[in-house]
Parts: sequence; structure tokens; C-alpha cells
Amino acid sequence: MEQLQQQIHNLKQEVTNYPVTNAEQLEAFRIQFLGTKGQVKALMGEMKNVPAELRKEVGQWLNECKIFVEQHFETLKSSLQSTAEETTDGIDYSLPGTPQPIGGRHPISLVRNQIVNIFKRLGFAVAEGPEIEDDWHNFGAMNLPEDHPARDMQDTFYISQNPAWLLRTHTSNVQARVMENQKPPIRVVCPGRVYRNETISARAHCFFHQIEGLYIDEHVSFADLKQTLYFFVKELFGNDVKVRFRPSYFPFTEVSAEMDISCLICGGKGCNVCKHSGWVEILGCGMVHPKVLDNMGIDSNKYTGFAFGMGVERITMLKYQIKDLRLFSENDVRFLQQFHTVV
Ligand code: PHE
Repeated sequence: MEQLQQQIHNLKQEVTNYPVTNAEQLEAFRIQFLGTKGQVKALMGEMKNVPAELRKEVGQWLNECKIFVEQHFETLKSSLQSTAEETTDGIDYSLPGTPQPIGGRHPISLVRNQIVNIFKRLGFAVAEGPEIEDDWHNFGAMNLPEDHPARDMQDTFYISQNPAWLLRTHTSNVQARVMENQKPPIRVVCPGRVYRNETISARAHCFFHQIEGLYIDEHVSFADLKQTLYFFVKELFGNDVKVRFRPSYFPFTEVSAEMDISCLICGGKGCNVCKHSGWVEILGCGMVHPKVLDNMGIDSNKYTGFAFGMGVERITMLKYQIKDLRLFSENDVRFLQQFHTVV
């Protein structure tokens, strides 16, 4: 038995030292050790001389020896293959690949989502409506009859084939459509793109984005409006920001107000952005005009409501200190990439 053990040992040694650097040598290795007349087979043949009581043990040695040789062969084979791959076309396949940029959300989408999520937490649902709208839903229903001078506040693009149609100038058309189709209580925010015939500059564009909100129920008061907007400002800009309301005018609200926040750039001390006033306007708001409720078939003796509307670009510019509105629509990746880490 010792002799057999020695033979196994020698074979393993021979296998380990066998030089294989090309395909021919590999084939020679296979024939010499693993072929039908090879050394492993020959060694296996020794089994017939082993006494029966030792067969189990010896069988294990021989089997283990066979596996060793086979595994060594596979190792030699695959290392030969990978050197072949590296050298045939001169490409190192183990190098890392060229990364593909996965992109990210547009800053307007990021801020729109943030704003919408704040109102969602207060129980507001999201409503959307058409960008090409009829005169009634954009103006008439909103208490802006045809000859109303306040129509000049919003320079309108009319559809040339049929001027009864226009590109909505605000997302109030969605408010009109919601009131038309739902009964109070109504609590919605309406994000969307709007269009105005303005000369394009750093501060104005012919399209931009708004988010309007509408809340109608019994006993809704201006105090509810203020509390809702206070919460919104704290959530979006943090606890240090101050808020103030100024009286204003909108045809669809009575009373009407504009809301300012303390300037984020100078903290209220006065700078170029706030025109040295310490305050910047961020939205318009008010109590829904009873005429608007009546227009939509909602009993203005029973129900009251508040509405507000803000420009997403304006808030994004304040939040990220962006000085030119045109950057949002130029699709310059150097600008857009700066927002890629924000989810
Ligand atoms: N629709 C107004 C605008 O576009 C914003 C607004 C909405 C003001 C609701 C008050 C109430 O200017």
C-alpha cells in the first residue's frame, strides 16, 4: 500500500510541475494524464491488486487523486484562454467600463414635487387640466368677463384658427374644472405649465409653471388660508423665514393678498434680489370670490373658500439663487447636472 501511496504522491508532483504554456502542451498534458491510456487510468487499474478490506480506503485516495488532476487541467485550460483573450485583440476586458450618466430630475420638477408633497400632507389632492383651454374656464368662470380690464394683467396667446381657444394663462382653469365637477368639500392643488405673451428675458418667459391651491368648505376663513401658507413656508424654507401679507387685487378673490417672505439671500437686511426691501413676493392668494362659486354652481351663502397661486420658477430661483429664468429651458447639462444629486 505504501508503494501505491508513493505513486499517487509522485503523480501529483509530476502534474504540478508539468509545463503548459500553449494549446499543444495542454493537449499533451490531457493525453498523458487523463487519456484512456493515461497515468490516472493506469493508477486506477491498481485497484484490482488491492485486498478487499482496503479497497474502500484506497478507492478514496485514487478518486481524490483523479479529481486533483482534473481540476489542475481545468485551471491550466482557463488560464490559457484568458491570456489568449488578452493578447489576441489587445483589449483588457478586466478594465472597468465607461460609466453611463443616469441623469436626474429638472430643478423645476424637483421644487414642484416638494411643494405638492407639502400640500399633500395637509390633505390636498392633486388635480390637472388642459393647457389649451376655452375662454370660459380660463377667464369667464374666474370672474373675468370679456371686457374686463384685468385681462390685460395676463397677456394671452390665442389659437389663431379659433380665438375662442387659448393657451391657459394660469392654472386657475383647473380650479374652474374641479369646481364644475365636484361638490364641496374641495381641497386640491393644481400644478402645471402656463403661457403668457411676454418678451423673453432673465425675469420673464413666454411659458412657466404654477401651482395653485383651492379649499372650499363651510366656514373656511382667511385665518385658515394664513395658517396653511405659514405651514407651507416653514416646510419649504425653514423656521427662520418670516412671512407677511399685503392687500392686493385679483378678480377671482375677495379679499385678495400677496404673500412675501423675508429675503433668503440677505436674511432681510436688504440686497439686489429683494431690491433692498428685505422682502420678496412669492404668491397671490385670497378668499374665493362669491361670483366664482356661483358661476360654478356652488352655493356662496353656504360655502366659502380660499385660493392661492405661485410661480414654481420664482421659488426655484430663490431657493437655488438662480439669476436667469432662461436657464430653465435651455437644457444646458452644465446647469442641469448641478441638481442631479438631489432626489
Ligand atoms: N391666478 C393668479 C395668477 O396667475 C394667481 C392666484 C391664484 C391668485 C389664486 C390668487 C388666488 O396670477
